[in-house]
Amino acid sequence: MVKPNMRIFILSTRTLVFLTLFSITTQQEVPETSITRFQEYLRINTAHPNPDYSAAVSFLNVLAKSIPNLQTRTLYLTTPQKPLLLVTLPGSNPSLPSILFNSHLDSVPAEPSKWVHHPFSAVKTDDGKIFARGAQDDKCIAIQYLEALRNIILKDPEFKPVRTLHICYVPDEEIGGLDGMAKFVESNEFKQLNVGFFLDEGQASTTNQYRVFYADRSPWNLVIKATGMPGHGSRMFDNSAMENLMKSIEVVSKFRENQFDLVKAGVLANSEVISANAVYLKAGIPSTNGNFVMNMQPSEAEAGFDVRLPPTVDPDLLKKRIADEWAPATRNLSYHIVEKGPLRDYKGRPLMTATNDSNPWWIVFKDAVEACGGELMKPEILSSTTDARYLRQLGIPTLGFSPMKNTPILLHDHNEYLKDTVFLEGIKVYESIIKSLTSFEGAGPL
Ligand SMILES: *[C@@H]1O[C@H](CO)[C@@H](O)[C@H](O)[C@H]1NC(C)=O
Ligand SMILES: *[C@@H]1O[C@H](CO)[C@@H](O)[C@H](O)[C@H]1NC(C)=O
Ligand SMILES: [Zn+2]
Repeated sequence: MVKPNMRIFILSTRTLVFLTLFSITTQQEVPETSITRFQEYLRINTAHPNPDYSAAVSFLNVLAKSIPNLQTRTLYLTTPQKPLLLVTLPGSNPSLPSILFNSHLDSVPAEPSKWVHHPFSAVKTDDGKIFARGAQDDKCIAIQYLEALRNIILKDPEFKPVRTLHICYVPDEEIGGLDGMAKFVESNEFKQLNVGFFLDEGQASTTNQYRVFYADRSPWNLVIKATGMPGHGSRMFDNSAMENLMKSIEVVSKFRENQFDLVKAGVLANSEVISANAVYLKAGIPSTNGNFVMNMQPSEAEAGFDVRLPPTVDPDLLKKRIADEWAPATRNLSYHIVEKGPLRDYKGRPLMTATNDSNPWWIVFKDAVEACGGELMKPEILSSTTDARYLRQLGIPTLGFSPMKNTPILLHDHNEYLKDTVFLEGIKVYESIIKSLTSFEGAGPL
């Protein structure tokens, strides 16, 4: 941009004004669009372990304020480093429960050396792929919500929703949400929102149909410990700690195989079975240089499992199975379960949102997606876990949805990208969803 300005020196004032204008327009060669705003947001590094939440929140705050009628508030529920941004479009009937959309500010780390484009460059290739950490998970929806609102309000400056719509941008989802959504739902600010329906992130779909999620699986960390008689490595005897642990692992493996067979046979989806994957083994008597004593059978051995429960499973039955079969005390096995999240809502119901006629929000959501030409796949349980569980625990109807179709699933992967056309189509889908949800007067208070 230096060249045009240099020429100005030798020209008349009139030409100078013209050229300055010219120079401004060429400087903005790429006019601001929803795509460039998406790229700008992607360039803010909010990857763990040092997410720049302040930069992300101030960017979104400015963006929201550039849209007429939107109000914003920044909440600090833990430390000044972990802000939460709340954007609000007030409805004409504040007595009706509000709608809340969510997007987490953070993302998982990225290893730049394993990417074709730097993960925070947000490069757009000729075929429209925008490469960045967070492009799918979930910075796309963060911008799409606002761009949809911008379009609705620009097309109809008189647009006044009946129900209030809020968008929250929360920290720390990728590390469990304890300083993020978990804190937010306990706050007075949240209670004052009187949320009636919650829309959270989903996942990309490789087909022409969008995916929608009505539940998350709940993670358990299971540790099984075995004890047994120690002895010389050369001796054969019964009930060593290693033998007891290996028997336990055999039983868990058999269970895992049966569950996996249901998936392989197409009876159940991956997210509908209980997964139990061994993640560590710990035993042996250390010697020098990270080696182990070879002629001793240890008196203790331990294995760790990542266990995931779909909401359809009775957790007490699984606990009984663990106590009776996976880690029976009669075999000198003990176990410890860390439940990494709620399994039941405040009324003791499974954490699932109905996706049938019994849930009026489902009907409104589904009709809105279809009204703009979108198609939905059969609703699914998400294999992993999101902030949605904190809202379902409060009994609030909650769906997981990120409008990405014909897109490979690249969340947490190298070379995460989203195509511009898919991103833009998603904005249209949210325009339809926002108009329908905010004008829906049917469902009363919970
Ligand atoms: C369990 O430990 C007890 C006490 O050390 C021992 O007598 C018994 O044989 C062990 N049983 C098994 C199945 O390991
Ligand atoms: C709707 O789905 C819920 C949850 O899956 C189920 O309990 C209920 O029986 C269903 N109701 C109707 C009317 O189909
Ligand atoms: Zn996510």
